[in-house]
Amino acid sequence: MAIYFSEKDKFISIKTENTEYQMKIDDYGVLRHLWYGEKVNTDMSYLIKYPDVGFSGNPYDAGNDRTYSLDTLPLEYACGGIGDFRISALSLTHENGSTALDLRYKSCRIYKGKYSIAGLPAVYAGENEAETLEITLQDIASEVKAVLRYGVVEKYDIITRNVKIINGDRPVTLQKAASLCLDIPNGNNPEWIHFHGRHISERLPERRPLFHGIQESSSSRGTSSHQQNPSVILCSPDCTETSGSCIGACLVYSGSFQTQIEYDQLDQTRLVMGINPNLFKWRLEPYGEFETPEVILSYSGRGFSRLSYNFHNIIREHICRGKYKTAERPVLINSWEAAYFDFDEEKIIKIAEAAADMGLDMLVLDDGWFGERNDDCSGLGDWFENKKKLPEGLKGLAEKINALDMSFGLWIEPEMVSENSRLYKTHPDWAIRVPNRKPTRGRFQLVLDMSRQDVQDYLFEAISDILKNADISYIKWDMNRSICDLYSSALEPERQGEFSHRYVLGLYALLERLTSAFPDVLWEGCSGGGGRFDAGMLYYCPQIWCSDDTDAYERTKIQYGTSFFYPVSVVGSHVSTVPNHQTGRTVPLESRAVTAMAGSLGYELDPNTLSDDERAQVRAQIKKYKSYRKLIHTGKYYRLTNPLKENSAVWKFVSENSGEVLIQGIIFRTEPNMKQRTLKLFGLEESSTYINEETGETYTGGALMNGGILLPETRGDYFPVEAYLRKMNFQPPTRLPV
Ligand code: DGJ
Repeated sequence: MAIYFSEKDKFISIKTENTEYQMKIDDYGVLRHLWYGEKVNTDMSYLIKYPDVGFSGNPYDAGNDRTYSLDTLPLEYACGGIGDFRISALSLTHENGSTALDLRYKSCRIYKGKYSIAGLPAVYAGENEAETLEITLQDIASEVKAVLRYGVVEKYDIITRNVKIINGDRPVTLQKAASLCLDIPNGNNPEWIHFHGRHISERLPERRPLFHGIQESSSSRGTSSHQQNPSVILCSPDCTETSGSCIGACLVYSGSFQTQIEYDQLDQTRLVMGINPNLFKWRLEPYGEFETPEVILSYSGRGFSRLSYNFHNIIREHICRGKYKTAERPVLINSWEAAYFDFDEEKIIKIAEAAADMGLDMLVLDDGWFGERNDDCSGLGDWFENKKKLPEGLKGLAEKINALDMSFGLWIEPEMVSENSRLYKTHPDWAIRVPNRKPTRGRFQLVLDMSRQDVQDYLFEAISDILKNADISYIKWDMNRSICDLYSSALEPERQGEFSHRYVLGLYALLERLTSAFPDVLWEGCSGGGGRFDAGMLYYCPQIWCSDDTDAYERTKIQYGTSFFYPVSVVGSHVSTVPNHQTGRTVPLESRAVTAMAGSLGYELDPNTLSDDERAQVRAQIKKYKSYRKLIHTGKYYRLTNPLKENSAVWKFVSENSGEVLIQGIIFRTEPNMKQRTLKLFGLEESSTYINEETGETYTGGALMNGGILLPETRGDYFPVEAYLRKMNFQPPTRLPV
């Protein structure tokens, strides 16, 4: 049993394989947080002792005890208006205008399996894989309840959290309903890492000491965004890849979010995460309910590698669903950087023929195949073929691609509409805009109101027709702008504050319908690359196009940041042409391939422009990738260098049984008389012997972990690194000859 509740001691402990989470219901019924960290097997309340802190008041029921203050104690789910002046997790307005909320313990329930959340993506697990704890708190002056839910996946050191708000007999308006409130007493975790960026440069880790006050990482763009990711790490200052303590939190949500961390007057840390309250107001009728999105939490006492390992496992095994959770992903060629909008059937077939000859599995036709879409000013919403470009339609094109022994995939951007489109002319009211104001354009396009059932139904029918009428095995679901002008013509004025969240719920509902109706399709998420790269989208799409930046050097940084939370199997990654279209940089083909192999490999160039030698290289790359694909997608992933600080990006994959090790990466710049550099290969078996298959050299695991391997001598910039080590006597899975 992972969850333990003592009625007598009012003590709750959640244990996973290596971690423990503790709470206590105190004498006043307040649910206190005690501990989240290593397994300690003892009640940690002894650490929670406070002096009388001036200007931190005391609840009335504490009588003359000036040391008992909601403003200083670590709490499990904090509310405002009652003397806790730190950031609150839940705020609402009662019918009488008051915003006070004082939640006290009411009941507790433990059951096998993992709770699910109606209409929202969440970790799923079988009866024997997880347990659920539900703690119900109730306001002392109203009937408002908060049910705090904890899902425990013991094996992966994962605890999920979500909150269900259940209203009493009077209407209330929620202003904030966070998914997570985590108090860390005693100043244990004074640094944080968040993942910031911009279009073509996403999820770059930024590590900072906490300052006293509130720090924030958030999105108000209607998507989880390129600019900030809904994931965060709190860590000790000495935390490295292999040692030190850290807590990771990842929100399973694709809309506007807010992560706030308050480092308070007593050097305590409070982490609050959830839907962005600045764009949220939700009216609850009597006895109405509201469910927050889920947060996935993990603690590691062994540094960031272990933390990432936990998140990779939970996302790959318990968020991603469907056939392609485990099925091998096709190596695809995408038409975007090969042709942009300038193509016809003949050109696409030529690309496909050359790609088939190199061993690619699928051709993906990107933007430009529908309506009057010849540039990015028109056509979105008109999801029928442009017959000038595709005279035999998608069906005819798919048949020709299939005849080359390749499958066919298609790009679509369902949530958008161009003003210059038939859809907009027929349904102008479906586009989001505020009455009496001109809408804001982004990439010349407007956003459809996904909260409307009729919009969802239209898109379901349109996409179903496409999928039924042609043999399409893959859909790239794009979304190319941030959302503003928040207003829905289908909502009452007092419900407009619900729109942003309702948009996300509508998107999820549509994705659920489509992925259930077409379970054999591989759905890839995309938002101008990685603008909606989050665990929410991964519930529907088991891979996401990581970034519109295909420059291998830049990609190593983006993939490095992405890897802290998200597994390699969900990263869409392509080899493109040189000079690179985003940066003008030229990186050798082999290095571009090594980088793109740390994901679901694809190519995004016109193969007809490649020399015979380059085509042969691509052929070999695909074979090599396929022979390593299982190790890459299911092995343990380790970051060996930090490309934001060092002259290389090197990572490795180790099979679960530690029998195989694949080291890959790039050394950025070559210097004359280059100094030798070693790289320690942590995470191996100390006493085992490993052999480098190419050179025949053997080493003990101890030597590789303590002394490391030598990085190769380099010639030229962006030099590829690759080595495959096998444990002696370990029989690797049969490999294709390369
Ligand atoms: C943005 C995507 O990230 C690109 O890969 C491409 O599909 C374009 N949109 C097409 O408009």
